[in-house]
Amino acid sequence: MSQDPRTSAAPAAASSGSNPIAQVKQHWDHVYSNKEYEYGEAPNVWLASFADRFPAPGKAVALADGYGRNGVFLAERGLETLSLDISPVGVETTRKLAAKRGVAIDAQVMDVSKWQPDGPVYDVVALIYAHFSSTPERDYCLRRQIHQTAAKALKPGGLLILEAFRPDQLGKSSGGPKMAHYLYSLEELKVDFADLRLLEGAEVDIELEEGERHRGLASVVRVVATKDA
Ligand SMILES: C[S@@+](CC[C@H](N)C(=O)[O-])C[C@H]1O[C@@H](n2cnc3c(N)ncnc32)[C@H](O)[C@@H]1O
Repeated sequence: MSQDPRTSAAPAAASSGSNPIAQVKQHWDHVYSNKEYEYGEAPNVWLASFADRFPAPGKAVALADGYGRNGVFLAERGLETLSLDISPVGVETTRKLAAKRGVAIDAQVMDVSKWQPDGPVYDVVALIYAHFSSTPERDYCLRRQIHQTAAKALKPGGLLILEAFRPDQLGKSSGGPKMAHYLYSLEELKVDFADLRLLEGAEVDIELEEGERHRGLASVVRVVATKDA
């Protein structure tokens, strides 16, 4: 397995210079080229647990959706789904998975920090293991910027659903970034999503069973939030 670029000594950096986005893209292209469905084909359990609250028809967006296990799941629930990821290999697999399941999906290669949603139009916004740096670069925090954009994209009454590793995951072998500033605490997320109403937010240890890469006891943070009209 290749090393994660979110460690300080990532070999991927060698051919992509000091451009962090190029390193991330190169890393995930490599991961998804080696194994198409790195976390299995099933959706994330936390996301799927809200399926009976999804409107259909409706609109969903899955940010940093990888090869689309979650975006395709949302499309299967009748939502018109936009799936965004920086990895062209991942996005191609998303289209393939959607075709295999017989659903339509709008899968696009995009750095989500550049995404500009068309207003608050999404009934479901999914952020599943979408880890962005919390280190202030220039005059902003990447994680906060992307989370605030995600919150703006949420329609009143919609659901923003997030699961991510938290700092207690460091040292565990069940997956995730190896650098603390890519891990999220509930306190940070409450600030990021201050414009939303938190329905549930918890730091929990769970047994992950998502392919070989997310497997075993894991320390995660889970959030589901809505927007009041
Ligand atoms: C741990 S994977 C999770 C993929 C997917 N959400 C899932 O749960 O199966 C992290 C994903 O984040 C994507 N990613 C990281 N930074 C990104 C960025 N700035 N814009 C878009 N995608 C990004 C990677 O390409 C990778 O597919």
